[in-house]
Amino acid sequence: MTQFSTDLPSDLLSDRTAVVAGGTGSVGQVVVEAFLEAGATVVVPSRSEQKLAALQKSLGNAPADRLITLVGDLSDEGDSVRVREAILERAGPLDAAVASLGGFVPAPAVLDAPLSELERVLDGYLLAHFMVAKALIPALEERSGSYTFINGPLAFRPMFPGTGLVSIATAGQAMLARAVMKEKSGGPVRINELVLYTRFGWGSDEDDDGGSVSQADVGAFLAHLASDSGAVVRGETIHLEDLEPLRALRSRTAELLHGG
Ligand SMILES: NC(=O)c1ccc[n+]([C@@H]2O[C@H](COP(=O)([O-])OP(=O)(O)OC[C@H]3O[C@@H](n4cnc5c(N)ncnc54)[C@H](OP(=O)(O)O)[C@@H]3O)[C@@H](O)[C@H]2O)c1
Repeated sequence: MTQFSTDLPSDLLSDRTAVVAGGTGSVGQVVVEAFLEAGATVVVPSRSEQKLAALQKSLGNAPADRLITLVGDLSDEGDSVRVREAILERAGPLDAAVASLGGFVPAPAVLDAPLSELERVLDGYLLAHFMVAKALIPALEERSGSYTFINGPLAFRPMFPGTGLVSIATAGQAMLARAVMKEKSGGPVRINELVLYTRFGWGSDEDDDGGSVSQADVGAFLAHLASDSGAVVRGETIHLEDLEPLRALRSRTAELLHGG
């Protein structure tokens, strides 16, 4: 498996501040690590103090001194403004945000599921993304920052038995992202949607036979997207099924760093 993450420049995001909403999750942790390795200050809000402690422990060699954690719920209508203000107070103006949110709810068959399960899955994906985008996109305007919705292939087709409810909620999430991207297309914030085909939280990267894009490649892609190399990318849904989008951003980084 080719990994481009190994040549992630350590100053790619220096002097930049990024929020990773869902940074305690399987995908989010990889993103946090990549942003720290690329020199950013990274803020992770979480509903759970224990999950934040586990994130700190799991960071391995990543420089954790630039990680700011805080307890709160950006996806809760009553708490999101407080959490956003606490982030800005602790970290200063924001340059980037990645929303990697979800709560997988298996269901043997969609029409056998109780309404409460559909509500739970809508809450974990669609409503959480709605609230987090409402809270963070305005906070990125000052520095013309970058906001990225993370999604998965289940949004585009039901794939395995048991994943129907998640497909319903993430399809709504995909349309949320597109509506926001269209409405904000002339605004200062670059908003994109990244669809991941790599598997996270199902074993180590080495065990992954889900495709040619490794977990670390995903982190590297998001770091490049948040950097000056990503400045021309806005309003796009990017399917990270192969390494072409990462190659394109890497060559742009090389051009910017070395003039060609
Ligand atoms: N895992 C995969 O293999 C995979 C593959 C392709 C795409 N994706 C996509 O990646 C995204 C993240 O997936 P994941 O596997 O990393 O999920 P995960 O491990 O369950 O983590 C999701 C994170 O979302 C946060 N969150 C905040 N508000 C939430 C709310 N109201 N309800 C539920 N969670 C909330 C949680 O943070 P706190 O609990 O700390 O607040 C949690 O850590 C999803 O969009 C998924 O479709 C995942």
